[in-house]
Amino acid sequence: MSTDLTDLQLLNELEPVVERLLNRHIAKFKQWSPHDYIPWSDGKNFYALGGQDWEPGQSQLSDVAQVAMVLNLLTEDNLPAYHREIAMNYGMDGPWGQWINRWTAEENRHSTALRDYLVVTRAVDPVALEQLRIEQITRGFSPGQNHQAEGELFADGLFDSVIYVSFQELATRVSHRNTGKACDDAIANQLLARVSADENLHMIFYRDVSEAGFQIAPNKAMHSLHKVLRNFKMPGYTVPGFRRKAVIVAVGGVFDPRIFLDDVVMPVLRKWRIFEREDFTGEAARMRDDLGVLVDELTDACAKFEQSKQRYIEREARKAEKITADRVLSRPGH
Ligand SMILES: [Fe+2]
Ligand SMILES: [Fe+2]
Repeated sequence: MSTDLTDLQLLNELEPVVERLLNRHIAKFKQWSPHDYIPWSDGKNFYALGGQDWEPGQSQLSDVAQVAMVLNLLTEDNLPAYHREIAMNYGMDGPWGQWINRWTAEENRHSTALRDYLVVTRAVDPVALEQLRIEQITRGFSPGQNHQAEGELFADGLFDSVIYVSFQELATRVSHRNTGKACDDAIANQLLARVSADENLHMIFYRDVSEAGFQIAPNKAMHSLHKVLRNFKMPGYTVPGFRRKAVIVAVGGVFDPRIFLDDVVMPVLRKWRIFEREDFTGEAARMRDDLGVLVDELTDACAKFEQSKQRYIEREARKAEKITADRVLSRPGH
């Protein structure tokens, strides 16, 4: 097949694949309800209804778990923007449109579930959470918006989109799963395992649509894959204070460069047999080789991250020791 199929032709070519994968998704899908995973009896009214407003001491979650939860929730909150992006790239006709609506309905319960849990358990400040949600949605989301200045749209077109979302769904699956563990609370862990299982099925859908895309138009798909991985950003990058939050969850082991490489990038590249297949030609073949370089670069970045994490942990430990020593010295009698 030629590399210059239009998106409309690709949408038509892939329509039977989407229909089959949508049916497979519905067969595999396990019904669950967010309300089953919220400890409602732990909840209390807030000040407006005669109760007490939130205070930091009420949270039972560690700092890392709080930041990871907020980052994951705000990422989920931006669903209207993701829906818009996907609908614009795929159109709303036939199986593509059915998938988009179904996927949106499933995604929607993720933010419902996480917010209910955080508010009922008073794990984070609900006022700040609401302000952040408004700000996040107002900022919108387009994987391309920060790249237009560089003259390149990041996710522009069908293949850019399905390939980006394949990695993004897997990244959110891993992030929710590890956040559940970081919460050190059986209920949060179960809840996030449920969310994570949804993300896994979403990932499998997009990954397999993309795989069919590699069969139909390998060179065009490689152009998209190269662009997506060379510019990859987590969907939460528009969350206010994203960089600081990303560092905290990385140092906390929830989502770091090693997890990104080993648990997100490599499994998908292996599934698509990127480094084995021989149907890339010309510029696309060169791009495949450059992805090999990228994997080496990401491996180096993992080593650098581990070193700076170690230095950070040692610095924090010295600070904690100094605070303890200062307290002892400032006691009466010293
Ligand atoms: Fe989600
Ligand atoms: Fe998802």
